[in-house]
Amino acid sequence: MESKISREEAFELLKKYNKEPFHIQHALTVEGVMRWYAGELGFTDEADYWAVTGLLHDIDFELYPEEHCQKAPELLKEGGVGDDMIHSICSHGFGICSDVEPVHEMEKVMFAADELTGLIGAAALMRPSKSVMDMEVSSIKKKFKDKRFAAGCSRDVIRQGAERLGWELNDLFEKTILAMRSCEESISKEMENYSA
Ligand SMILES: [Fe+2]
Repeated sequence: MESKISREEAFELLKKYNKEPFHIQHALTVEGVMRWYAGELGFTDEADYWAVTGLLHDIDFELYPEEHCQKAPELLKEGGVGDDMIHSICSHGFGICSDVEPVHEMEKVMFAADELTGLIGAAALMRPSKSVMDMEVSSIKKKFKDKRFAAGCSRDVIRQGAERLGWELNDLFEKTILAMRSCEESISKEMENYSA
């Protein structure tokens, strides 16, 4: 799988279409999470591909929410992103806004983890520390079951994502918390550039 675009170019491309701090933060989070997963699952040589795909996965969402995953190929192609990565990006919306199925391991991981980072991030904000550093899997299990909590994070997508990977839900929770720990500090530093 080929990137055809550097991390710096990808970040500029992201910022061209995304201005809201919430979206930038989500992109950086999925980037960091995907980089961690690449190392964890034995794909270190593909870590840049995994990370840049994560960074760009929601590129069209801020400006074209009604055309999510449909508008993306055009914006990405114009930005010099290769076909492999466009496939990977579109596959994260499989069954919702895209008919591109996740086939590669990285695509399955992103499908499963993207929505979950939203749930874990929302749960972190409820904590005194506002951090995932001291978060336990048991607390995510509870939040996952509480349908009113972060209701926008689809439990079905997360469950389906774990199934595609052949993982237990708890396994996905535990790994994704660790993944978010790995990048929390660097992301909060980067986000200082966006605070009013
Ligand atoms: Fe996302």
